[in-house]
Formats: sequence, structure tokens, C-alpha cells
Amino acid sequence: MNSFVYPPRIEIARLPTPCQPLRRLSDRVGTEIHIKRDDLTGIALSGNKIRKLEFVLADALAKKADAVLTCGGAQSNHARATAVAAAMLGLRCRLLLRTPDPGNPPPAEGNILLDRMAGAEIVWISPAEYQNRSKIFEREAALLKNEGHTPYIIPEGSSNPIGAWGYIRATEELKNDLAALGPEVPTTIVHATGSGGTAAGLALGARLFDLPARTVTFNVCEDQTHFLKVIEGICEQAISEFQLPIDFDRDRDLHIIDGYVGRGYALSRPEELRLICEVARTEGIFLDPVYTGKAFFGMVQELKKRPGIFGKRILYIHTGGIFGLFQNRGQELKFQ
Ligand SMILES: Cc1ncc(COP(=O)(O)O)c(C=O)c1O
Repeated sequence: MNSFVYPPRIEIARLPTPCQPLRRLSDRVGTEIHIKRDDLTGIALSGNKIRKLEFVLADALAKKADAVLTCGGAQSNHARATAVAAAMLGLRCRLLLRTPDPGNPPPAEGNILLDRMAGAEIVWISPAEYQNRSKIFEREAALLKNEGHTPYIIPEGSSNPIGAWGYIRATEELKNDLAALGPEVPTTIVHATGSGGTAAGLALGARLFDLPARTVTFNVCEDQTHFLKVIEGICEQAISEFQLPIDFDRDRDLHIIDGYVGRGYALSRPEELRLICEVARTEGIFLDPVYTGKAFFGMVQELKKRPGIFGKRILYIHTGGIFGLFQNRGQELKFQ
């Protein structure tokens, strides 16, 4: 293993998360699938975000912050995870949430309900304002400073070099999980990408820990070109900021399968929702419609088109997002 030093971390996640076989689904799709239950990291089922926040919030505390600001879509899992973790640490939390009409914000359902219950202050902003959110971050941070606070800004999805440490560290766990599955066979780790931090951490961790598996991610918004740039950017920044002994090569280290955004970010197609129900019925596991369900759908479609594409074994990372199921999805699902 290459030598490096972890940055400070606060231990708020329940780790290691379990890894379990999906026996019946494996039989159905003809490839052995295991699922890494990162939906069980704790902090109100906060999924992958908590791994990143362990490092990001340690940095905030080291900088004596007593208020955190972050951003996301109205139903952002990351914003909710930040709100809950902030409450746990006694930090003030302000969220910039994107909505088509900020004067008429969405009801307090799903993640918004939890944001509110955890005491986060919500600033509703339009998609155009979201594009220029750095200005709004500055304005809100200045307001908090005027009230005597020391604010700390967390970028979308905690997807920056510090946040990436969450999934560098997860790679150590994944290596143990793979070893526990028995003799090595060609294996692919599969997960969803929304802002790129998870993929960046996994790409760096795979190199640092010589992970005996390829990692493939499915983007649930934007496209492959966008995410190659974003993930490579986070990796390169992390390598230089933390002096990581890695010669990063985007063609070798990043594998993004595009084509499964479907109707668009956070919008579902009936076939995606049907698969979410199928997984719940065959394995008792609930994927979410925005991230994990879409990536799982992409994975199953790819297996149908190109059997063997993922080797003999798949380790699917369930990155959480359960509360995305609770906004009027009952009607859409129709329980087919
Ligand atoms: C449940 C869930 N899974 C996966 C992702 C994607 O992770 P990342 O933002 O690190 O790409 C997100 C957030 O974007 C998420 O909330």
C-alpha cells in the first residue's frame, strides 16, 4: 500500500456498513450481485453523504466554524444529511435549496420535512440563481458573520477534495468486503453519480489500496463528458492538496456509463419504478428513485445487453436516498 495520512475526521457514521448477497436477484440477472449497505451509515439514514461529512465537518470544526451553509435541489439528500449532522454537533445550518418558483416553495415533505425538523434555515433560490450560487453563499455567509457566527461553506454534495476522503476510506472497507467473499474473481463495483465526490473518492481509494475490482458509475444527471471533467478535477485537486502518491489516469481510473438519466434528474420512468418495486419484493431492499434506483436500472439493462460486462461478481453500493420515495411516489408506483 502507498503511504499517505488521513486528514482529521469526526466519527459520526456507523461503520463499517454491512455487505450482503442479493441471491434471488442474482439468479434472475445471471450475475452474482452483492450490495454494500451504505444506506445504513446512520444519522437518519443519510447514506453516502455522511462518509464525506465526517471529513468535511472535521475541517469545519478545525476552522472553529459554528455555522454551516450548503446547497442542493429542494429534496437534496446531502442538504438533509448536513442539517441532521449539524444538529448533532450543535452547529447552525443554512441551506440554499433550488426550486422553480422561490416565492412558492414546495411543501415540507420528504427531505424538506427533515431539514425543517432538524432546525435548518432554508433559503429558496431559483435555478438561475443556483447557477450563480457562490454570490448567494457569500451574501448568506456575510449575514451569519454579522450575527457573530463563523460560517463554513460546504459545496454541493460535499464533492470536493476533503469530502472525497469519505470514499477513499470506504475503499478500505470495500477491500475487506471483497476479501470476505472468497477467492478473487473479476469484479465490478457499481454506484450512482450525482455530483462526483463518491466516484472521485473511490477512484483515488482504488489506487491507494490496490482494489482488486473495477469501478463503474452511472450518472443520474448531466452527461459523461461533464462528469469525467468534474471527477477528474476533484481527483487532481485532492492529489495535489494532500500529496497523494497516485499517478491518476482518467482513461484507466474512471468508467462512467451514460444513457440512463431517463426523463431527467429526479424524474422517473415507469420501468425504473417497477425495478425499484422488484428489488423491494425480491430482496427487501428499498432503492431510491433519484440515484440508486436509476443506477441499478442502468446496471440491469447493461447486463441484458452485454452479459458478462461486469465480470463474474458485482458489488453494488447502495448510497441511500430513501426519503426520495416519500414525495407522491405512491401514485406513480401504482404498485404494479
Ligand atoms: C442517495 C444518493 N446516492 C448517490 C449520490 C451521488 O453521489 P455523488 O454526489 O457523490 O456523486 C447522491 C448525491 O448526489 C445521493 O444522494
